[in-house]
Amino acid sequence: MSASPSPFADVPLAPADPILGLTEAYNADPRPEKVNLGVGVYQDESGKVPVLNVVREAEERWHDREETKSYLSQVGPPSYITEVQKLLLGPDSLLLNDGRVVTVQAPGGTGALRVGADFLKKYYPESTVWVSSPTWENHCALFEAAGFRTESYPYYNPETHDLDFEGMKRTIRGLPSQSIVLLHVCCHNPSGVDLSRDQWREMVEIFRTSDLIPFIDFAYQGFGEGIEPDAFAVRAFAEAEIPCLISSSFSKSFSLYRERVGALSFITTSREEAERVLSQVKRTIRTNYSNPPSHGAQVVALVLSDPALRARWEEELAGMRNRIQEMRHLFVETLREKGVKRDFSFIERQKGMFSFAGLPLEDVRQLRDRYGLYMTDSSRMCVAAMNERNIGYICDALAEVVGT
Ligand code: LMR
Repeated sequence: MSASPSPFADVPLAPADPILGLTEAYNADPRPEKVNLGVGVYQDESGKVPVLNVVREAEERWHDREETKSYLSQVGPPSYITEVQKLLLGPDSLLLNDGRVVTVQAPGGTGALRVGADFLKKYYPESTVWVSSPTWENHCALFEAAGFRTESYPYYNPETHDLDFEGMKRTIRGLPSQSIVLLHVCCHNPSGVDLSRDQWREMVEIFRTSDLIPFIDFAYQGFGEGIEPDAFAVRAFAEAEIPCLISSSFSKSFSLYRERVGALSFITTSREEAERVLSQVKRTIRTNYSNPPSHGAQVVALVLSDPALRARWEEELAGMRNRIQEMRHLFVETLREKGVKRDFSFIERQKGMFSFAGLPLEDVRQLRDRYGLYMTDSSRMCVAAMNERNIGYICDALAEVVGT
């Protein structure tokens, strides 16, 4: 036994993570009928988180082609950067032509947010970060860990299950200058409620005439309406030449969660400004994790740059998107069939992986304890984890708890 006092003696036990902690509890649950609607991962009709066929093929090709395991630059592979930029902004973007966009690979969307947060903290230490109410459980914790204060602007109205656009606009218009505003551009996590195109046009106008700093979180491209339509808001900001940060991710769209493949991009006002931003973001990366991992990014770059592989990816992505939409429909129908009178039809109007069931915490706990049905405390459900085999069980449990 050590004689010296432990430097860790006063380290308190942290609470479980509100999302990842649920998966730990779910994994430890011995009940075979349990269902995990907690974490945001897409599961296929058999309940598996798939490895896409196109990813398997690209991995084989990359395996044969890879010549070294030496370090990548802080920025990531050049082909990956080019493909990410085209996917975000469209291949014909004038900003790309002008060299005004900076992109670096990052370890997933979360890594991109954190690199962006660390970068911003250096230049805007007094700014507050404004997030939607509600937002992804990890957003506030992440920006606070980078040293920022966080506040929220109105977004989801639980009465209407829809957007509080007037409240959102009013608050954002009144924000102090140089506030950092986090925007989800599609498949809002956790509500599934997005702005319409006209509403985005209004938002762009607000930002165009302000000196706010937009930080766009774009983790679900292709899971809402499609690769191109989901990029509408990003491209509207770009076309209006509004300087901003964009975090993006291939965790969902390529089902590459554990490979941690994301990117952080900056839209700047000139090539020269872009060079300065890049030089600083490289330093932020260097002092965080030095340089990014290679495998996932090379696979994504290979698929996106090969027309045949890309077509197959688009098909598999559409398959995931359409299945989620079918599950939304089936969920609403099945609840109706089970005699649930409460109106859940709003779930069919929402997009992406998540929706709120609109349940109080005691119901959420009951579902977890009595039925092994896991959702976050806010009653966020991952619709992408529903399938034809578990939908009956999910709806029976809900019918018991909310009543018929
Ligand atoms: C989620 O919201 O469940 C996902 O984005 C996974 C995560 O890291 O929280």
